[in-house]
Amino acid sequence: MSDFTGNAWSVFVAGFTVVSILACLLLLWVTARKKVAADEDNTTGHVWDGDLREMNNPLPRWWMWLFVITIVYSLLYLVAYPGLGSYGGQLAWTSAGNYQKEVEKARVQLEPLYAQFTARKPEELAGDPNAMAIGERLFMNNCAQCHGSDARGSKGFPNLADHDWLWGGEPAKIAETIHQGRTGAMPPMAAAVGGADDVKNVAHYVMSLSKGPHDSLRAQLGKAKFTACAACHGMDGKGNAALGAPNLTDDVWLHGWGEQAIINIINTGRNNQMPGQQGKLTDAQIHVLSAYVWGLSNKAVVGKP
Ligand code: HEC
Ligand code: HEC
Repeated sequence: MSDFTGNAWSVFVAGFTVVSILACLLLLWVTARKKVAADEDNTTGHVWDGDLREMNNPLPRWWMWLFVITIVYSLLYLVAYPGLGSYGGQLAWTSAGNYQKEVEKARVQLEPLYAQFTARKPEELAGDPNAMAIGERLFMNNCAQCHGSDARGSKGFPNLADHDWLWGGEPAKIAETIHQGRTGAMPPMAAAVGGADDVKNVAHYVMSLSKGPHDSLRAQLGKAKFTACAACHGMDGKGNAALGAPNLTDDVWLHGWGEQAIINIINTGRNNQMPGQQGKLTDAQIHVLSAYVWGLSNKAVVGKP
């Protein structure tokens, strides 16, 4: 209701509601006063099945009072709760406020538990089945839609369960990623490389870095052009975690492997975003999540101090 641009609709809706309720009262009053002409034996003259006669008795009193009570109740309700146009009600109740209260209650209940978690290092926490059960729940609710329920990602969404990291895989780096989000920005590079043939050559050089099948002549020609890429991916193509530039020498591909996929990204570039979770999750929740994500690729050392 609060998104009405003006007051007119609100007044209209409120007026309509009040008039409808008053009309109910009026209806009750009118029908209670109106006498239906009946025969002497107090029947209406309607007969069914031979001898079933309709009597002309008034509504039972208790029934009528129920009706009055519902009307009074509706009026009291509309004074207390939101329902009349954009009027918020005397109790100032809102569904959002109700939700906030429940969240707050849960927070207070969970605070001692999370305090235990935040007091421990993520590496240690990753070995605690209790904390990891909560971490998994948090991951399913907040991260799985992009990274997959097994955290193995998909095209454009990095695998968090391997040892290959765009931005760094230490718990502190993971926490930083979750807190503030990340934008992996690869600009369109075709112009800096040269013509379409040069782009293809560089693509073959990139394919050669991870020892995949490639045209070695093209790769050799492309190598010289790779200087344009070195600022981010490094001269050796091993990437740069400060920029989120991927290692091109391993066989892990965020945007797909193969000549065409690589040519595409050189031509069009890519802006890949991980949304920051700071406002959505508490610091303690992010702490547990960092431990959970770190633990996924460090199963062998988890729990060992
Ligand atoms: C809307 C989709 C989306 C959601 C939701 C999301 N992520 Fe991401 N995440 C991404 C993308 C896309 C990237 C890659 C960013 C880039 O290319 O640099 C990423 C990157 C990351 C990285 C860095 C990986 C690396 O290799 O350095 C981590 C860690 C991560 N996400 C964890 C999480 C966690 C934990 C959550 C849940 C709280 C989460 N993400 C929720 C899309 C998402
Ligand atoms: C300004 C920095 C920058 C420059 C210059 C740059 N890149 Fe990138 N590149 C990135 C970033 C960041 C990503 C990751 C994008 C993402 O997070 O999705 C990327 C991704 C890629 C990928 C996809 C890797 C995968 O795992 O799928 C390829 C291939 C690639 N770059 C090749 C090149 C080539 C070839 C050049 C030179 C012609 C180049 N890049 C120049 C920053 C750069």
